[in-house]
Amino acid sequence: MNRGSVACTEVALRILVTGACGMLGRLVCSALSAQGHTVLGTDVTEGCERLDVSNTSRVFEVFNYFQPQAVIHCAAMTDVDGCERNPDSAYLVNTIGTWNLACACASVQCPIVYVSTDYVFDGEKTTPYSEFDNPNPINVYGASKLAGEQAVRDLCAKHFIVRTSWIVAPHGKNFALTILDLAQKRIAEGSIDKPLTIVADQVGSPTYAKDLAEFLSSLVESPLYGIYHFTNSGSCSWFEFASTVLEYAGINQVKVLPIKSEEWPTPTRRPKYSVLRHYRLELLGRDNVRSWKEAVRELVSEWTTAKQ
Ligand SMILES: NC(=O)c1ccc[n+]([C@@H]2O[C@H](COP(=O)([O-])OP(=O)(O)OC[C@H]3O[C@@H](n4cnc5c(N)ncnc54)[C@H](OP(=O)(O)O)[C@@H]3O)[C@@H](O)[C@H]2O)c1
Repeated sequence: MNRGSVACTEVALRILVTGACGMLGRLVCSALSAQGHTVLGTDVTEGCERLDVSNTSRVFEVFNYFQPQAVIHCAAMTDVDGCERNPDSAYLVNTIGTWNLACACASVQCPIVYVSTDYVFDGEKTTPYSEFDNPNPINVYGASKLAGEQAVRDLCAKHFIVRTSWIVAPHGKNFALTILDLAQKRIAEGSIDKPLTIVADQVGSPTYAKDLAEFLSSLVESPLYGIYHFTNSGSCSWFEFASTVLEYAGINQVKVLPIKSEEWPTPTRRPKYSVLRHYRLELLGRDNVRSWKEAVRELVSEWTTAKQ
């Protein structure tokens, strides 16, 4: 059984994946196909079947012809600062898009797996947030994703809401790859005396997209609906995260300097502390997700192999 899996049976299903060209969606499609499911991967990006989730009639059209037996909804506007600058777009994609899928799922009693975020919490706690803590988003991205959660809960009895955080993969736009790219540039430009300055007062849990994709795929065969928190285990600051990525990549020439959030101004307030406790999995006796360090070691090794 997969890490943290809650799968009960093994049946081949027709599964619709949204955001299938994104960092997570790609791996979800691979994990589902490897399990023998028939997958329709959709996105707004070329390379996938076109489905803009904010287009209501198109969502129903795709449902009519594919007749999914489960949906894994990974599509989102994930640019947190972009959401803050353009709330209408954030609510259109993250809330209305999710609403459309929830309506379509409800019309045929199709289960939906919705990927949500640690940013639904305000970050005022100093101990991990469980599924029973009250959300209180402090930015537009978090608020629009929480409104998406509400749509899924209100409309679909058969729903899974999976909150996760700090997703990384050997592809796509993510923190680990950004750090590796920046460090390589410093080396190439001969500017290793210029350290990378990284925020040290925001704490969370990195999540390897591959581990999350396996978990999400396991849910489509489960009747244990509801809210789950899923990340790799353990927690760190962005500074510790960056330092670990460079250590595992063997890049020790480039130094990392811890800074405060105020020294890295952005248009968006971010939670200071957003570690997610996997309380639901703990209570099910299935919280065996590997540590973030182990996952980052694998990611860096895949990145190194891909470079050669
Ligand atoms: N990344 C994280 O650290 C993180 C943390 C917590 C939760 N999550 C959640 O995890 C999920 C997957 O995130 P990710 O990191 O894989 O993000 P991603 O790489 O940005 O993937 C999202 C995909 O959705 C597509 N998309 C955007 N608007 C769409 C629309 N209207 N209709 C259909 N597709 C649309 C994007 O296309 P474009 O690239 O062309 O916009 C992209 O291919 C999201 O629900 C996100 O909210 C992410």
